[in-house]
Amino acid sequence: MLQLKKVSVKVGKKEILKDFNFEFEKGKVYAVMGPNGSGKSTLAYAIAGHPAYKLDVGSLKLDGKEIRDKKPEERAKMGIFLSFQNPLSLSGVTVFQLLRIALGKKKDPLELKNEVETTARRLKINPELISRSLNDGASGGEKKKLEMLQAAILDPKLVIFDEIDTGVDVDALKTIAEFMDGNKKGKTFIVITHYNRILHYIKPDKVLVLMEGKLVKVGGAKLAEEIEKKGYEKVMS
Ligand SMILES: Nc1ncnc2c1ncn2[C@@H]1O[C@H](COP(=O)(O)OP(=O)(O)O)[C@@H](O)[C@H]1O
Ligand SMILES: [Mg+2]
Repeated sequence: MLQLKKVSVKVGKKEILKDFNFEFEKGKVYAVMGPNGSGKSTLAYAIAGHPAYKLDVGSLKLDGKEIRDKKPEERAKMGIFLSFQNPLSLSGVTVFQLLRIALGKKKDPLELKNEVETTARRLKINPELISRSLNDGASGGEKKKLEMLQAAILDPKLVIFDEIDTGVDVDALKTIAEFMDGNKKGKTFIVITHYNRILHYIKPDKVLVLMEGKLVKVGGAKLAEEIEKKGYEKVMS
């Protein structure tokens, strides 16, 4: 569903992502692992279309369509959802209002309201957070759950979670992982993480390891366990 061929991304003159080749498939959960600074967020930004992380070389195809020159909002409309490592706060805008804007006339406001409330309950989100400005005073875990809520309602084909486990307590992590597992049908999830914690709760179909901007290894769920035990350097050497 998402195919990257010979992808290279430069920031300034520095090549950050180097010759990345991989095809992500529908209905699967992928974990992208790698030490800090290995290029994981860069990969996520390049897929989502962040203007500072344009492809220098290579092709990026979503369901066979070249999207390397598409704007982030066009990619979002095509079904790509990126949840940021550090979700921003929006003052004066609630998650409900944001979703209403994003969905336009696609969903009846009342129906949307019900859906937001039901999903919030399933994600164990404090109802008060739904009526507040987005992420205003929300903890790390609550912000990530609100991202998950948006992903659930917008119903994208491809969901990328950048460091969803950072600053999230174990209970929230379990809720998020269960939710993801129950919603993966027909979708592709890319879960970016620098450690194995979330992978105790969600079993990835494939694990990709990035080191210094290169895809150095692809394996099954066991690879993540091995990395946890031995560390990146040992597993890769
Ligand atoms: N906007 C930027 N300007 C300069 N260097 C950047 C920028 N974005 C990323 N980098 C560099 O690229 C490398 C990979 O960063 P990043 O993709 O954020 O890694 P990760 O998410 O794996 O921790 C790092 O060395 C980082 O400093
Ligand atoms: Mg990162």
